[in-house]
Amino acid sequence: MKITFSVIKADIGSIGGHTKPSKRMLAHIRSLVAAAVDQGLIIDGLVTYTGDDIAIHMSHTHGKGAEKIHMFAWNVFTSATGVAATHGLYGAGQDLLVDAPAGNVNGAGPAVAEIEFERDRSSKHRPAEAFLVFAADKCGPGAYNYPLYSLFCDPMRNGGLLLNPKLREGFSVTVIDMENKDGDRVIELNIPERIWDLAVLLQNTDRYAIESIHSRFAPEEQIVAASATRLHNVAGKYVGKDDPIAIVRTQGAFPAPEEALEPFLLGHYVTGGARGSHVMPIMPVPIGTPVTGAYCLPLVSCLAFSMDEAGRFTDEHVDMFANPVWAHTRIKIQEKAEEWRRGGFIGATMAGEAELAYTGMIDAMDKLNQEFKIRA
Ligand code: 13P
Ligand code: MG
Ligand code: MG
Repeated sequence: MKITFSVIKADIGSIGGHTKPSKRMLAHIRSLVAAAVDQGLIIDGLVTYTGDDIAIHMSHTHGKGAEKIHMFAWNVFTSATGVAATHGLYGAGQDLLVDAPAGNVNGAGPAVAEIEFERDRSSKHRPAEAFLVFAADKCGPGAYNYPLYSLFCDPMRNGGLLLNPKLREGFSVTVIDMENKDGDRVIELNIPERIWDLAVLLQNTDRYAIESIHSRFAPEEQIVAASATRLHNVAGKYVGKDDPIAIVRTQGAFPAPEEALEPFLLGHYVTGGARGSHVMPIMPVPIGTPVTGAYCLPLVSCLAFSMDEAGRFTDEHVDMFANPVWAHTRIKIQEKAEEWRRGGFIGATMAGEAELAYTGMIDAMDKLNQEFKIRA
């Protein structure tokens, strides 16, 4: 049976600032998702949060970009926005940027990652289905550029690229130009032949992001789906950070979970943090972690799932960054962040011009520009 796994995520309000959604909101959404399972709209569903973002994980048979699924998620978020507003929460409905999306929430505010695959226990390549879901808060959509490059392109980081002949067949990586506002401007690069071309694009995390990765061993198989939209391009101003999600299918002809997690030991720099306007290292955290630290340090959570032949996945999942070994990584990243923040607003410590163009900096610059003179 062909199953689609969709994760749709939005910030629709949080307690006391951009920390976490309320228990009431989560209970409300969970009851709507349970009803959708009962009514047969979706096969299975799970609701989680990372910082102030709520992620709805759904399995179903409607395919990618399905109006039924997208509008269900939109209506759930709209309804829970009412709960947030009633209880005086901050930023109620923050990521719901249009009045009514035209059947698809892509470009309407929420982040979307979807993969369709055949669930078949007798399949030669994929008798079992295992996958990871990453959810990041307080950062831009290029946040997965480094981890995905490291995982799929660098055998120094991922020995599986050498050890597994199915991985050695390579991948096809689709990169999207997030600054292009008329239609999706995308490029497909074959890896490993074009890893340097890929690097040229991924260097600019504010503009280019990996949207999907397919196997070249089994070309019909999509391994990665990541959300890559810029909220400021939709809203025309700074309204909050893009906070991307990514699905990574694992094992068999795909990378192993331990390989997919390795890049998160680094605390790589992403655009995000306080007011979405800083360059900060990203910290791996357990699911359901509120943002309460200084500078709104960017966070990322990761859940591991298996899925049965009927498309069910919620019986149990594993919270990959909850293991105490990651506490060591968090201390290192906190130290790195504190040292880096000493740089204040100077140069690379604050976000680049393209990002700040959607903040109050632009009004200040406009006024200053009127005072500038060309010296005689
Ligand atoms: P969110 O996008 O998570 O709401 O973060 C906004 C922000 O800038 C916090 O400082
Ligand atoms: Mg928020
Ligand atoms: Mg957020």
